[in-house]
Amino acid sequence: MTAQTIPPRVLLIGAGSIGAVYLYQLQQAGCEVTAVCRSNYAHVKENGFKLLSVRYGNVTYRPSRTIRSLSECADEIFDFILVCTKSFPGSKPSLPEMLATVIRNKSTAIVLAQNGIMIEEEVAQAFPENPILSGVIYLPAVQTEPGTIEYRETLNLLELGTYPADAPADHKAAALNFADLMVKGGGNAKVLEDIQVARWSKLLLNAAWNPICALTLCSDGDFLLSSEFAEELAWEVMLEVIALADKVGIPGITVEVAESKFSIAKRRAKEGTGREMSMLQDIRQGRMFEVEAIIGNAVRLGRRHGLKMPRLETFYALLKGRYEAQLKELRHGSALK
Ligand SMILES: NC(=O)c1ccc[n+]([C@@H]2O[C@H](COP(=O)([O-])OP(=O)(O)OC[C@H]3O[C@@H](n4cnc5c(N)ncnc54)[C@H](OP(=O)(O)O)[C@@H]3O)[C@@H](O)[C@H]2O)c1
Ligand SMILES: *[C@@H]1O[C@H](CO)[C@@H](O)[C@H](O)[C@H]1NC(C)=O
Ligand SMILES: *[C@@H]1O[C@H](CO)[C@@H](O)[C@H](O)[C@H]1NC(C)=O
Repeated sequence: MTAQTIPPRVLLIGAGSIGAVYLYQLQQAGCEVTAVCRSNYAHVKENGFKLLSVRYGNVTYRPSRTIRSLSECADEIFDFILVCTKSFPGSKPSLPEMLATVIRNKSTAIVLAQNGIMIEEEVAQAFPENPILSGVIYLPAVQTEPGTIEYRETLNLLELGTYPADAPADHKAAALNFADLMVKGGGNAKVLEDIQVARWSKLLLNAAWNPICALTLCSDGDFLLSSEFAEELAWEVMLEVIALADKVGIPGITVEVAESKFSIAKRRAKEGTGREMSMLQDIRQGRMFEVEAIIGNAVRLGRRHGLKMPRLETFYALLKGRYEAQLKELRHGSALK
């Protein structure tokens, strides 16, 4: 970077597993990153983050600025606001309400680096002129204690695209700029013409394996080995997602794509290297999980289109019950403190 370049200013909302890794990449790329921390605030303010990784080595680093509340930066203008919280549609305050505190300029791009489908609409409605960049993440990382992130594989890909796909040229330019920064910072990033295709490809994996792992406490590989009915169940969920994509006009969500996604779990079963999906990790740790963004949005969309999705609807009903039970446990727990 030359001396006269102004570093890109980024606000990170959700400095957890993914947020902390992206923070590292953005700082490596020369960005000035303000991080809003919640439960790890005190730790990060004092010690920064510790990233244990193969890709970047074991490193310690601090955000350019660590804050506790968005109101602390309400008068600043950012080039990018990177949202790496879990996606909880319908939560209070809503994401648009949170963003309203910090969006001062219509050129500030909002990057949604989150799983699920149909997570962009409420943000786009609230900020119709700002670039909305929708991101699909392939990066297995977990915050094992406040400020400590374990990232043991080298996989690192951010697929990025504007929402909607036919956004104005300056929105596309913002997507290219952000992808560039992620690559400069040592990661991989791709800008796609239609990010929904990528989002739905990822949904094939998430809709099948997150519920199965969460409800059985199995890894994907172990589940496949558990009975002669296991493979059919997981595969039929993928077929339901394919049918839904077809019904709502998302191109490219084919049996071939599903087969290639499915083969990952089959290989893990064979090698004994099954993955514990994030929803399972959340349930183990008594945390809220993304049942609405990943499963609820899909089954409701199916119902609106008159599509029967018996497997996925069953998963949704069971997981939603588990979710409500978990919420009760959390409330009870905090009432006791
Ligand atoms: N981790 C992975 O391997 C992975 C891989 C692919 C995709 N993803 C997706 O990436 C997204 C982020 O996942 P993650 O694993 O990074 O989740 P995470 O580890 O739970 O991190 C989320 C962070 O956001 C913080 N947060 C939540 N609400 C906030 C608020 N209102 N204000 C400030 N901070 C807030 C959380 O704070 P608290 O600690 O206080 O809750 C936490 O630090 C999800 O959509 C996930 O599905 C994750
Ligand atoms: C990083 O730390 C872990 C343990 O925390 C250790 O197993 C690993 O060898 C370290 N890696 C490097 C490159 O130092
Ligand atoms: C918005 O940001 C752009 C680019 O940083 C800047 O040129 C413009 O002056 C800003 N507008 C306002 C109203 O601050």
